[in-house]
Amino acid sequence: MTIAPRTDWKSRLRGAYMRGGRWVLSDAMQSFILGCTSLDVLRAELAVHQQRGSSYNDASWMRGEYRQWYLAFYSAKYISSLQRALIEYWPADSFDSEVRLLDVGVGPGTTALALMDLCEVAERLGIAHGDVARFAAIDRDPDKLDYAYELSFAFARQCETIHGPRRWARSVAAGSDWFELDLVDGDSVRDWAARRSFDVVVVSNTFSELRPQGQAAQHLSQVLVPGVLSRGGAAIVLEPAPPKSTARWARSVIHSR
Ligand SMILES: C[S@@+](CC[C@H](N)C(=O)[O-])C[C@H]1O[C@@H](n2cnc3c(N)ncnc32)[C@H](O)[C@@H]1O
Repeated sequence: MTIAPRTDWKSRLRGAYMRGGRWVLSDAMQSFILGCTSLDVLRAELAVHQQRGSSYNDASWMRGEYRQWYLAFYSAKYISSLQRALIEYWPADSFDSEVRLLDVGVGPGTTALALMDLCEVAERLGIAHGDVARFAAIDRDPDKLDYAYELSFAFARQCETIHGPRRWARSVAAGSDWFELDLVDGDSVRDWAARRSFDVVVVSNTFSELRPQGQAAQHLSQVLVPGVLSRGGAAIVLEPAPPKSTARWARSVIHSR
């Protein structure tokens, strides 16, 4: 009998996302994103963006069309990057180890979708049996929290409708926690962090979009991350900003440990 090395799950998961030598979204995620968007809306939003030349616009968030655009244009891209990073830096020997993950700045739930899709692929490969992770998220905007919560549950429902009951849906999705917390409020951040611990903290496209800049970033890197990150845990900082800024944010997170 051959016993597969424990890290074999990483290469199996990576292999499931590779097509023609390129990392792609899973079929489940592609169909989910397509089902949430319409071509007409995407064309219209593309025209708006080309005119304005802006990349991300928090003020547009209230428009449903903008959310569709964000999901199809940004989330689709970031989900892949996050999945690669999560597989790479997963702080456990197996994908069955109830890793506690915190997402800071949810937007439409990009990180939740990336994690849940990983769970879906892993469950189909037979390398995850339900208790993969505990997911929690914070954001200052209750509207984004609601939207991200609804989208991630819609993804879980879609997987269950197509493939039958999913163990991860009952643990990771149903067990998820969503918190309204403004990073500018240092006392609340300190209080929140003092009562919690996480093995992975994801800061994806959030440092560059924090409002207001300055204090919120300081509380994130110097209070929240060192307050909640467990020993041996991983902070994943993924930003579209120039490499210098991203390196500075990543350094501030590392130095605060
Ligand atoms: C561009 S979105 C990031 C979305 C997601 N992480 C992604 O990668 O697609 C930035 C998020 O940061 C949140 N945010 C901005 N300022 C904040 C603050 N002071 N406290 C907490 N969240 C904040 C916004 O509400 C928004 O959801």
